[in-house]
Amino acid sequence: MADSQRSELAMEPLTINSSRGAYTVNFVPEIETLVQILASIENTFLVLDSTVASLYGVHLKRLLEAKPYVIVVPTEEEKSLAGCETILAGLVAQNADRNTKVIAIGGGIIQDLATMCAHIYFRGISWIFVPTTLLAMADSCIGAKASINFRGYKNQLGVFHSPGQIYISPEFLITVTEDELRSGYGEIFKLHFAGSPEKFFRLAKLVENESWRTPSLGKIIHTSLEIKKAYIEGDEFDTGIRRHLNYGHTFGHALESVTSHRVPHGLAISWGMDLINE
Ligand SMILES: NC(=O)c1ccc[n+]([C@@H]2O[C@H](COP(=O)([O-])OP(=O)(O)OC[C@H]3O[C@@H](n4cnc5c(N)ncnc54)[C@H](O)[C@@H]3O)[C@@H](O)[C@H]2O)c1
Repeated sequence: MADSQRSELAMEPLTINSSRGAYTVNFVPEIETLVQILASIENTFLVLDSTVASLYGVHLKRLLEAKPYVIVVPTEEEKSLAGCETILAGLVAQNADRNTKVIAIGGGIIQDLATMCAHIYFRGISWIFVPTTLLAMADSCIGAKASINFRGYKNQLGVFHSPGQIYISPEFLITVTEDELRSGYGEIFKLHFAGSPEKFFRLAKLVENESWRTPSLGKIIHTSLEIKKAYIEGDEFDTGIRRHLNYGHTFGHALESVTSHRVPHGLAISWGMDLINE
């Protein structure tokens, strides 16, 4: 990656205030630096997306040699009690204690699973998130919500459990597929719309003039998180204004269900927003 692109990705950290303690979103342009940071944290247990494990095995080698881990195939079927059991069994097998920190590396599915497990293991242990999809970087990584699917119902079981730290390295996006990138933009456009009409139209113009993979992607992620921060700090437990961020989600979840999750989440909620606008 060129130096100019890297400096585009070096963003100011964001602090998210929560009644259960503040947490920080850190932007780390290089995966190599990120691995050094993660390797220096003691008493950790990694929950790693299987695609990321195979694409970034060489980069993560140092970490995987030094830390216990479990690799999870990120499907909506796995985002379930059965998927939680795999992770919890890994924690028990490693004699993880109350001070163990779960490090989740992957997209929204890995985040949801790891958060649920961190929430119930010993009634709550710390977790750190390294989002590797656009949707997880620009949206799901903050807000502390976690849900799993149950008996065919999407996101039926859930908890609130804030991470300790979040580390975003947009370098991971190089390998994300076009569909997954567009899925991320589904939530990004929703957030910019929730921010202001100006933000929404500025983003639409930028993407039209450049491309989905614009060099400004780091800035777009940052702006999305700034918009979401205002909503979640104003309504941490989703009882009022934060519900605006569920725009399009009822129809979106239905589409995900009837297509057996072949339509990625962000694309499904974009369709849901279109439908509700009619
Ligand atoms: N907890 C929340 O607040 C919240 C918010 C929004 C969505 N979600 C949930 O998140 C899930 C969707 O998450 P997602 O869109 O991040 O997708 P995902 O976690 O399903 O991942 C999508 C695909 O991308 C692959 N992948 C991950 N990182 C990659 C990389 N760097 N390069 C190449 N491939 C990579 C994964 O292996 C997977 O095949 C849904 O289950 C949704 O309900 C949760």
